[in-house]
Amino acid sequence: MTRAATGDAKTDRIGVLFVCLGNICRSPLAEGVFRDVADAEGLAGRFDIDSAGTSDYHTGDPPDPRTVGEAKRRGLVLEHSARQIRVEDFARFDYVIAMDASNLGKIERLAKSMSHDAELHLLRAFDGDAGDDLEVPDPYFGGPDGFSDVHDMVERSCRTLLEHIRSHHAL
Ligand code: 4NP
Repeated sequence: MTRAATGDAKTDRIGVLFVCLGNICRSPLAEGVFRDVADAEGLAGRFDIDSAGTSDYHTGDPPDPRTVGEAKRRGLVLEHSARQIRVEDFARFDYVIAMDASNLGKIERLAKSMSHDAELHLLRAFDGDAGDDLEVPDPYFGGPDGFSDVHDMVERSCRTLLEHIRSHHAL
């Protein structure tokens, strides 16, 4: 088991954690898309990539079948077991990336309980098409179009997030 897999220690890899509410729709998608984008640049091995939810509603569940279906349609396989974010994540991950303002508020409050160097961002702060709306909307209670729209936003944002991280780490 790697040190990262124990969940409590930093490795020499760059840690990126994506966070939403349930950890079954948006954040496991962002985890898979970011890994795919990094892999396409030959950089996947340089990263420790994971996702988590601010809630424990779906702990242990796989990603939502609608998220998995949309990803599969685009050639991406998603594998994840939902978990709740924990305070130790701010030591393990260099970037903690929230899907919406509510998630960001929760992780900012949690992050205050320990000293850490993690950067906290909204994912769509990296979406050049976002305009004033920096949220990845929660698709859970909506129709199938929501999952396709979310996938587009996440893909655009992850590409620019990777550029941001590359520029900070001379990758
Ligand atoms: P996610 O979507 O935060 O993108 O994983 C949700 C999944 C489940 C629930 C809400 C949002 N829920 O209330 O169970």
